[in-house]
Amino acid sequence: MSGNLQIVLGRRPTARPAVRDFVVCEGDFPVAGPDEALVRTILVSVDPAMRGWVLDGPNYLPPVPVGSPMRSFGIGQVVVSNLPGFGPGDLVVGMTGWQEWAALRRTEIQRRIDPGLAPVSTALGVLGVTGLTAYVGMLDIGRPTPGSTVLVTTAAGAVGSLAGQLASLQGARTVGLTGSDEKRRLCVEHFGFDAAIDYRAEDDLAEAIRCACPDGVDVFFDSVGGATLDAALANLNVGARVAVCGTIGLPPDGEADGPRIERRILVNRISMQGFLATDHLHRIDGVVEELAGWLRAGRIRHREEISPVLTDAPAALVRLLEGRNTGKSLVRVADIDP
Ligand SMILES: NC(=O)c1ccc[n+]([C@@H]2O[C@H](COP(=O)([O-])OP(=O)(O)OC[C@H]3O[C@@H](n4cnc5c(N)ncnc54)[C@H](OP(=O)(O)O)[C@@H]3O)[C@@H](O)[C@H]2O)c1
Repeated sequence: MSGNLQIVLGRRPTARPAVRDFVVCEGDFPVAGPDEALVRTILVSVDPAMRGWVLDGPNYLPPVPVGSPMRSFGIGQVVVSNLPGFGPGDLVVGMTGWQEWAALRRTEIQRRIDPGLAPVSTALGVLGVTGLTAYVGMLDIGRPTPGSTVLVTTAAGAVGSLAGQLASLQGARTVGLTGSDEKRRLCVEHFGFDAAIDYRAEDDLAEAIRCACPDGVDVFFDSVGGATLDAALANLNVGARVAVCGTIGLPPDGEADGPRIERRILVNRISMQGFLATDHLHRIDGVVEELAGWLRAGRIRHREEISPVLTDAPAALVRLLEGRNTGKSLVRVADIDP
């Protein structure tokens, strides 16, 4: 217990982050101060949001400082606790960052994990913020009804695959958009989408959506934006709802040209709502309990891709931003102490 292996942001990228923007360092071993818990990191998360967190632009969180460990959610096991209600051995989800050890304040701990519920890794995926994101976007904002048509982007990914399954549970017909033929088959064969489109193989995406959704689209769960949103908008029915979950298809600064959409929104009385799962964290225990019930009953499925060592984290981020991940992207840091 002398050093603390960290993946630090070495320089600020101007576009999509690359492996060379991160540096492997040996930081000081942290000490739990008053009202802090020292945790050993077990797993860290790799998320599309990190593309925005490392840039120097307006966002919902300040940029990660150059020279600091990369910001990330992680699962930690408490070793020393000066925090009322937390003791050695507890497993928590918190802002561990990409490092082996962290001293966390109460505000940096999201919640305690019940290891009996499911494998603990799910607390960063289907039974964590990923699950909450799909739940809020699909069930609160999309509100699919039986027989309606639901279109989902990043459909083979962590959020999208669950969003599609939640719509199926409501009796909707689901169509996924994804970036390879292999992922297209995964959407249909593993996640139960009624149809899926490999958007990279289509010259005219709006037409491909029209063929896959002959009755039009009632709910669009969008994590991509840009030309994908334009193609979906051309197929939205009167009264359709658009849940704006992410903008991974836009340049990092969010600037992109495209058609004006006001007339279509007006004429078809479309509702479009952005949301952040982090605004709904107060609901996470109830949502996780509901999702865990469906998971145990075999009514929803999930996939994970776990890189074996902390130093793989930057490469895992690059893989995800190139669409080469399948399932929730995680990095193993240490084993749980039984
Ligand atoms: N609003 C919220 O609170 C919230 C919370 C969590 C996540 N999100 C958003 O949800 C989305 C999915 O996140 P996730 O964690 O589940 O990741 P994920 O879907 O498992 O992985 C990201 C996927 O995005 C797709 N992608 C990457 N670059 C792209 C590009 N330039 N254009 C189009 N697609 C691209 C790739 O899938 P394909 O090969 O299929 O294109 C890639 O596999 C992201 O947009 C993320 O920002 C939002």
